[in-house]
Amino acid sequence: MSSMQGVLLITALLAGCFANRFALGLPDLPDKFFRCICKIESNCNPSIGCVNDPVTLSCGPYQIKEAYWQDASEFAGEHIGGGWKTCTTGADNMSCSKKVMLNYFQRYGRYCTGGREPTIEDYARIHNGGPHGCRHSSTDGYWAKVSRCLG
Ligand SMILES: *[C@@H]1O[C@H](CO)[C@@H](O)[C@H](O)[C@H]1NC(C)=O
Repeated sequence: MSSMQGVLLITALLAGCFANRFALGLPDLPDKFFRCICKIESNCNPSIGCVNDPVTLSCGPYQIKEAYWQDASEFAGEHIGGGWKTCTTGADNMSCSKKVMLNYFQRYGRYCTGGREPTIEDYARIHNGGPHGCRHSSTDGYWAKVSRCLG
């Protein structure tokens, strides 16, 4: 490949990357992040269903609560996956739950950090502790587990 072709290729890749980020407007998180969250939440059990945690139900491999799904769906402008339980415990539970998480993270990431670009740590704490989770020491233990898993 000539250096000109190289420049064009890199430009095209960057453009594709930005188009994707801006068109979807959702955070770009590594697969490892999702593997670690589902491992900690349910040992990545896709048929765990809904569990009391401790008083409100959390559903699916990522243990998503109804309010979490609602907030994400409101942000996405659609009932993600058709409904909370259908999405999180149905045939498409893994990818549907990820979609819920990404919309939730986009909604609350910078809200939680006060405008700074959120880190993986912020997102993990938000998954555990909600819109203010990245500021609360109540998510310290959770983050310790995720951090250990991420290695
Ligand atoms: C959850 O999704 C996985 C694939 O991602 C699938 O194998 C599994 O059957 C689904 N669980 C339910 C309860 O449908």
